[in-house]
Amino acid sequence: MHLIFIGAPGSGKGTQADRLRKNDGYYHVSTGDLLRSEVAKASSLGLRIKELIDNGQLVDDSTVLDLFSSNLMLDKHKYILDGFPRTINQCNLLADKLLHDQPFKAVYFEVDEGKIVERIVNRRVAPKSGKIYNLIFDPPEVDGVCDISGEKLIHRDDDKEEVVKNRLKIYRESIAEILDFYSKLSKLHRVDASESPDLVYDQIQKLLK
Ligand code: AP5
Ligand code: MG
Repeated sequence: MHLIFIGAPGSGKGTQADRLRKNDGYYHVSTGDLLRSEVAKASSLGLRIKELIDNGQLVDDSTVLDLFSSNLMLDKHKYILDGFPRTINQCNLLADKLLHDQPFKAVYFEVDEGKIVERIVNRRVAPKSGKIYNLIFDPPEVDGVCDISGEKLIHRDDDKEEVVKNRLKIYRESIAEILDFYSKLSKLHRVDASESPDLVYDQIQKLLK
């Protein structure tokens, strides 16, 4: 059973995906992470992607789908699909080109928008280990350094407050039809993502039973 994680920026998709990867044997594929690795290569595609991400805009569907599909073996492992789909067109692409008749649940991370900006501006990430920190809710043991890999933590370029506002605007424009799409298929499950990471994890565990 695959899980599709849907939710606003900062709703906690990556944090929960990491727990399910460690504890429950899921493979985690995040379109945001894939796009950021392309940016890190500084290829011409990467530079184009960087400009879009840094302005909080969506990358075109075919680029995202290519990156995404080349990193999936849906018939071999159970996956968490994080950050895809983000538009109704991507919902259809995922159904027709990737998932076919594979079983899945769509998990919607419902969160009070008032919490989002605070969560995101205080997020720090370790690019190599993938560990996600929060300066307020989950700080590293040593300031600015990953507990696991010892690498320097970074503040994502798109985590500045003005870019977050644009990301949220784009999210609000498409979320209703995505929820409607999965609701009509009876695949939609909601979790209260305003709760602590432990309580959100417990809610997801109940969905897996
Ligand atoms: P992406 O990287 O997917 O970003 P996003 O969807 O905006 O989500 P985030 O990664 O910001 O948040 P999250 O829900 O993973 O939260 P996290 O667990 O880190 O996409 C980035 C960009 O790439 C897009 O803007 C777009 O340009 C492009 N892109 C990506 N996918 C695309 C697609 N399909 N099509 C086109 N373009 C695409 O948590 C956030 C913070 O909160 C952390 O500090 C964490 O420690 C903390 N936290 C987590 N849970 C809790 C909790 N329960 N309580 C308190 N704090 C918490
Ligand atoms: Mg994420």
